[in-house]
Amino acid sequence: MIIAPSILSADFANLEKEIKAVIAAGADWIHVDVMDGHFVDNLTIGVPVVASLKKVSSIPLDVHLMITDPQKYAEAFIKAGAHYLTFHIEACPEPQALIKKIKSLGAKPGLSLRPRTPLSAITPFLSDVDLVLVMTVEPGFGGQSFMQDQVSKITELKKIRTEKKFNYLIEVDGGVNDQTLHHLKDADALVAGNFIFRNSDYKKAIEVLKK
Ligand code: DX5
Ligand code: ZN
Repeated sequence: MIIAPSILSADFANLEKEIKAVIAAGADWIHVDVMDGHFVDNLTIGVPVVASLKKVSSIPLDVHLMITDPQKYAEAFIKAGAHYLTFHIEACPEPQALIKKIKSLGAKPGLSLRPRTPLSAITPFLSDVDLVLVMTVEPGFGGQSFMQDQVSKITELKKIRTEKKFNYLIEVDGGVNDQTLHHLKDADALVAGNFIFRNSDYKKAIEVLKK
């Protein structure tokens, strides 16, 4: 299982220290939540911060865009160092064009959907993406409760991938912890914010999720 700690729950005054600590604790990717105050009711970090994170991270940056104009900012985030660049279907009128653009700029495209968006909204694009990010909370904030009714999307995504021989990774984001883990056996990657950064032992928290 790929584990991607979400730095949204990290100590923002010590991001370099936090990143190095989770890498030492066994993290595979660093999950970076970008919010614009429009697509979601929260503001977080932008391009310059991602560029700085890139300098101190030896593992891939998994950038999750929760912004209204992903097509406008994709290039800047990729130049800043995004390895995976995930955008929301609800925010993008031309997903196919953006997927192509992300690939042409050398990054891996990911597609995400809000809990109330049906899987059918993204199925036409599944052949072309490297990652599908299933939201198990309403995007915007860390520390929310896991929405169990979203688990069927994970199962269905795995089924589609097998049937059609697609290649995307299935990543789950929101309320992932030791109690909700048993729902996530079909996932390939888990994002966890609070469960890792609010734990006094990052290594132990990551080990629990990897099992
Ligand atoms: C929510 C973000 C998540 C968030 C997860 O919009 O996309 O990545 O940080 O935090 P936890 O793991 O605390 O639910
Ligand atoms: Zn996220």
